[in-house]
Amino acid sequence: MTAAKLLLGQTLAFDANPFETEPEKAARVERRGAVLIDGGKIIATGPSDTMRAAHPEAEVVDYGDAVLCAGFVDAHVHYPQTGIVASWGKRLIDWLNSYTFPEEMRFGDRAYADEIAGTYLDLTARHGTTTMVSYCTIHPESVDAIFTAAQSRGQRIVAGKTCMDRNAPDGLRDTAQSAYDDSKALIGKWHGQARLSYAITPRFSPTSSPEQLRALGDLWAEHPDCLMQTHLSEQTDEIEWVLGMFPEARDYLDTYEAFGLLGEKGLYGHAIHLEPRERARLHEVGAGLIHCPTSNTFIGSGLFEMQSLMDEGQRVGLATDTGGGSSFSMLRTMAAAYEVAQLRHTPLHAAQLMWLATQGSARSLHMEDKIGNLAAGMEADIVVLNLASTPDIAQRSSRADDIWEAIFPTIMMGDDRAVKATWINGQLVKG
Ligand code: GUN
Ligand code: ZN
Repeated sequence: MTAAKLLLGQTLAFDANPFETEPEKAARVERRGAVLIDGGKIIATGPSDTMRAAHPEAEVVDYGDAVLCAGFVDAHVHYPQTGIVASWGKRLIDWLNSYTFPEEMRFGDRAYADEIAGTYLDLTARHGTTTMVSYCTIHPESVDAIFTAAQSRGQRIVAGKTCMDRNAPDGLRDTAQSAYDDSKALIGKWHGQARLSYAITPRFSPTSSPEQLRALGDLWAEHPDCLMQTHLSEQTDEIEWVLGMFPEARDYLDTYEAFGLLGEKGLYGHAIHLEPRERARLHEVGAGLIHCPTSNTFIGSGLFEMQSLMDEGQRVGLATDTGGGSSFSMLRTMAAAYEVAQLRHTPLHAAQLMWLATQGSARSLHMEDKIGNLAAGMEADIVVLNLASTPDIAQRSSRADDIWEAIFPTIMMGDDRAVKATWINGQLVKG
C-alpha cells in the first residue's frame, strides 16, 4: 500500500524563461503526460505510458485533456481585505481610509481573523492558488490566524504583520519599537515552521515614520533570509505625498533604500511610475517587482511597464492584490496583465502569462527551487485546468490549433469553474 499518485493529463512545465527565449520553446508540453506525486513532493514527470509502466503501484487519477501545471503563486495580497473586495469608486488614499482601514481594525479580534483567514484560503484554493504572500494587519493575531490556517492545510505561504505608525486611524497604529518587537517575535514563532515564511512588512512610506522604517531595516539586516514586502509608486498623487514627506529622498525608492529596506529579497508591490534611477537600483539589487493588474485598473493607478522591465532583466511576479484587486483569480489576473500590456502595445504570449503566475512569482520569492514548476523534486502544488469549462470557452478552444491557442480563452474568460482540481502539498483540496 502506497500513497503515491499518478496524475494524468496534458502537462505544462517550463525549462526556460519565456521572456528570455521564444515563449513556446521555453515551455514543455506533454499531450499525454503524467506527474507522480508522493509525500508532498513531485517524484517524476514524463509521458503517461512510460510513467504508468514504471509506477504500476501508483493510484491513477486521469484528468483526460485537462492541463496540469504548477499551482498559482500570488505574490501580493492582503487577506484581511477579503471582505471589502470590489468596493466602489475611490482612488488609493481615499480607498484606504474609507474601506480598508475600518475593516483592518477588526483583526485584533482573533476569532474574526480566523474566520476571514479560513474563508480566504478556501476561496483561493478554488481558484488554483497554492501559495500567496500576504499582508496582515498591525495585529499579531492576524498573523497567527493566517499562518495557523495555512499550516493546517499544509500550505506554503508567506505573511507578515503590517507595520504603520502614522497616517492611519487610532487603533490601527503601532510604534517603531512595537513594530520591531512584534515582528521579531513573529519571526521567531513562525518563520521556517513547516512551509511558512515571514515577510517583514512596512505597509508603505506614508504610514511609517523614518524611525519605524529604520527599525524594520535593522530587523531585516538581522534576518536577511526573510522576505521584505512593501508598496512602491502605485499612484502619482501618492508619489507626490511621499516626496513631500521625505524631502531629502531622491525618489520614492530612496525612502526605503535610505533605511536598509532595499534588497534582493524585497518585494515591491505595483512599481508602476518608476524613475530611471529606481529602475536601475531595483535591477542592480535583483529586487522583486510585483505586478497587480486588476488592482491597477480598478483603483485607477496606471499601466505597469511589463515589456521594458522584462527587457532590462527585472525580476517580476504577478499578483491579485486582494482586495484592491478586483478578483481572487490568477486566471483573471493573467487576463488583466494581458490587457494592460495591450494598452502599452506589447502583447504577452499565453506562455509568458502562465509563467508569470507560477515561475515568475516563485522566482520573485526566491522559491523557484520549491514551487512554481512541474518537475521532480518540487513540492506537489498542482492545478488542473479544464480548457472547456463553459460553453463560451469550449466553442473557442475547440478550434485551437495548438496548446497556447487552447489555453488562451481560459486565461481570458476562465474563472474558478476552469479549475478542475487543486492539489496542495500532495493533497486534493478541490476537485
Ligand atoms: N498602498 C498601501 N496600502 C495599500 C493597500 O492596502 N492596497 C493597495 N492597493 N495599495 C496600498
Ligand atoms: Zn497591496
